[in-house]
Amino acid sequence: MTGAVPALPVRDDLRGRSPYGAPQAGRAGVGPVVQLNVNENPHPPSAGLVADLARAVGEAARTLNRYPDREAVALRTDLAAYLTRQTEVPLAVEQVWAANGSNEVLQQVCQAFGGPGRLALGFEPSYSMHPLLAAGTSTGWRGVPREKDFSLSVDVAVAGVREHRPAITFVTTPNNPTGTPTSLDVVEAVCEASEGVVLVDEAYAEFSSATSAVTLLERHPRLLVSRTMSKAFALAGARLGYLAASAAVVDVLRLVRLPYHLSALTQVAARVALAHEAELLGSVAAVRAQRDRMVETITSYGLRVVPTESNFLLFGPFEDPPAVWQALLDRGVLVRDLSSSPGLAGWLRVNAGTESETTAFLTALENVTP
Ligand SMILES: Cc1ncc(COP(=O)(O)O)c(C=O)c1O
Repeated sequence: MTGAVPALPVRDDLRGRSPYGAPQAGRAGVGPVVQLNVNENPHPPSAGLVADLARAVGEAARTLNRYPDREAVALRTDLAAYLTRQTEVPLAVEQVWAANGSNEVLQQVCQAFGGPGRLALGFEPSYSMHPLLAAGTSTGWRGVPREKDFSLSVDVAVAGVREHRPAITFVTTPNNPTGTPTSLDVVEAVCEASEGVVLVDEAYAEFSSATSAVTLLERHPRLLVSRTMSKAFALAGARLGYLAASAAVVDVLRLVRLPYHLSALTQVAARVALAHEAELLGSVAAVRAQRDRMVETITSYGLRVVPTESNFLLFGPFEDPPAVWQALLDRGVLVRDLSSSPGLAGWLRVNAGTESETTAFLTALENVTP
């Protein structure tokens, strides 16, 4: 900011903070690259799905003079059916909530259950948006460190919750950015130790073989499980995230959502994608195969990989991760440098690409590794 511009009367607790900012390929000074830095699914929709989407969106466009269904009932019904199929837990539409990406779901959770004078807690390193969403809703933040190998034990988790008594506890499984799964024993122990709500962020659940925390919902009324269509469903551009919880939790989220927050076009696009579940989730096996190939090849370069249950992995350690990040970018591959975050010194993160994208990454890394 230049001296001539008067300081903006921004909230004290936001002054000096940085926005979320993973670089985007083709934008903000990053040329065309193989983009492996934001854990997307590399497989674009098939021609058949694109045609179905275009037809359904075209149909919905006829009534865009009207507001969309404020309750998104048809979409939430489809999401409940999908989660029921996936987890074998019968879920009613009243137990499922949807918003523009799971980030918006998480923001609504912070608005409804956090706020001034309350704390949210996470087990770090973890998803960087959790503390940012807490900050945006004037919710205090406490980060409890994971073990050196990024695992989370019942003892550490429960001690953190007992010490800080958070209104919201975030448990991310598989964890981003480490790929580490969290056992359901930890989730249960956190639920039992906690007076607040417990949000299990399962953004990457479909890539993992672990049992979903949805199976614990019946026993723990303050447990919330968030999911997204951005990853396994390969629908990041449509912005659709959702949550399963008790009907009472969903009712509370209605108090903070904006009216008509989910556009008619988003609702219809997500429903079409859910109708193509088999095709879209069919890419999960290919993504996992490329991830496994990455693990094997990176290890053969003499580097280490943190064991992962997701579509991405941490690799290193490097003495100068920003230099390796830049060297990979110079060779046309964009990965994520989170090495300045607490607990992540030395590591870079990369997500599995298509076969050719993965080859481009592995070739670039081979040339960069001493
Ligand atoms: C752990 C985790 N949760 C939530 C999200 C948000 O995803 P979206 O808002 O696209 O649903 C991400 C995105 O990378 C994530 O890594």
